[in-house]
Amino acid sequence: MRISVLGTGYLGATHAAALARWGHDVVGVDVDVRRIEQLADGVAPFHEPGFAELLREGVLSGRLAFSTDASAVDSADVHFLCVGTPQLDGGHAADLRALWAAVDALAPRLRHGALVVGKSTVPVGTAALVQERLEDLTAPGHGVEVAWNPEFLREGHAVEDSLRPDRLVLGVASDAAEARLREVYRQVLCDGVPAVRTDLQTAELAKASANVMLASRISVVNVLAEVCEAANADIERLTEILGLDSRIGPRYLSPGIGFGGGCLPKDLRAFSSRAAELGVETASQLLGAVDEVNVYQRQRAVDLARRLLDGRPRGRQVAVLGASFKADSDDVRDSPALAVATGIAALGACVHVYDPEAGHHLADRLDLEVRDSAESACERAELTLVLTEWAQFGALDPVALGRIVRRRVVVDGRLVLDPHRWTRAGWQVHALGRRDPDPQLDTRRRAG
Ligand code: UGA
Repeated sequence: MRISVLGTGYLGATHAAALARWGHDVVGVDVDVRRIEQLADGVAPFHEPGFAELLREGVLSGRLAFSTDASAVDSADVHFLCVGTPQLDGGHAADLRALWAAVDALAPRLRHGALVVGKSTVPVGTAALVQERLEDLTAPGHGVEVAWNPEFLREGHAVEDSLRPDRLVLGVASDAAEARLREVYRQVLCDGVPAVRTDLQTAELAKASANVMLASRISVVNVLAEVCEAANADIERLTEILGLDSRIGPRYLSPGIGFGGGCLPKDLRAFSSRAAELGVETASQLLGAVDEVNVYQRQRAVDLARRLLDGRPRGRQVAVLGASFKADSDDVRDSPALAVATGIAALGACVHVYDPEAGHHLADRLDLEVRDSAESACERAELTLVLTEWAQFGALDPVALGRIVRRRVVVDGRLVLDPHRWTRAGWQVHALGRRDPDPQLDTRRRAG
């Protein structure tokens, strides 16, 4: 099939490359000239395991092209809307400007009977508005149809999630639209991936609801971690026990400095804003608390750092390992790690940051010093914080690092360090969710 993909961020670029792998002729279109040039040259514009290979394979096969010119979509019969829907400046709702711009650019170019498939995360009801707008902008009887097929890919796992999704959601208003989507995904369906057909609005909600469930789960586990800390209980054993309950399962139970990124926080807020518009007030009560608990984890980490610097952070040297919002990604959007690093720098500390992939995003930060290795960031540090769950941080040698730092005090913001190994090497290991090993510090905390 000939397919266009509008928007070439993580979602669009990965989806376009996956479609080419499945044998379709695909063109990715974006207004970002530099990004399109890179993609067309087979160069990945972001860090995503396996993406560079998939992209090159598509480009070299001739099945995957990229363009900034809207006319590139002319020969396609199926068009995927993959543009970003960030949080509106100064509000909680989703900013749909890029989506409407894409719809308006697409409308005059649509062939008779084209299928326009939304993948972006949108407030429920948007698909119906897209259908109306396309009908307004095309000639009567043009037969354009809208479907919604949300994408659940995670950054850092975008390629595997695209090629082998847990499920396909086919939000359609007709059998014909379903049949075309099944044709697009023939390969995946043959591999046994389950598909659920539903209406447009349920499909839109499926995406937002999945993110709301995941975000809520993380905030619940962070509340449990704080209770464990207060009760001298063990959050790791607790989550292990919970995870063995087949109704709960083990994933998304890692406590720490909370969730971030370009999706969970903004989708949570957009969902509750849309629910309020629909008159469902309980959504904002519940999800407002999920959001607050999440943001509070960052403050907890900053407060812990201040205490570990004896309440006198000004001028003290601090090493922060991790800046991206999660491992295997260079994305720093709404990154908890970066927020904590910034918070500590705002106390007057001299913060040296190392991230395996995200350093280039921090080049113009005046409040942080970016280093090119964990060792370099830790040199003469009085406090070290591990804030992103990169595997390489879990593998750090505490003995070697202990010789570099000035004080062997570490905060494990993602529970990736083996506390016994680090303690044996002479480190004082602190973590959100674990009782402080320093009893004095603990007394101070309880005193408020
Ligand atoms: C999320 C969803 O997981 C995807 O299904 C969805 O498609 C995507 O948003 C999207 O809307 O496009 P992503 O933003 O890549 O994916 O990140 P996650 O892997 O879900 O992690 C989000 C944040 O939660 C990270 O900061 C991570 O460190 C944190 N997290 C995750 C925890 O704090 N604890 C956990 O147990 C799991």
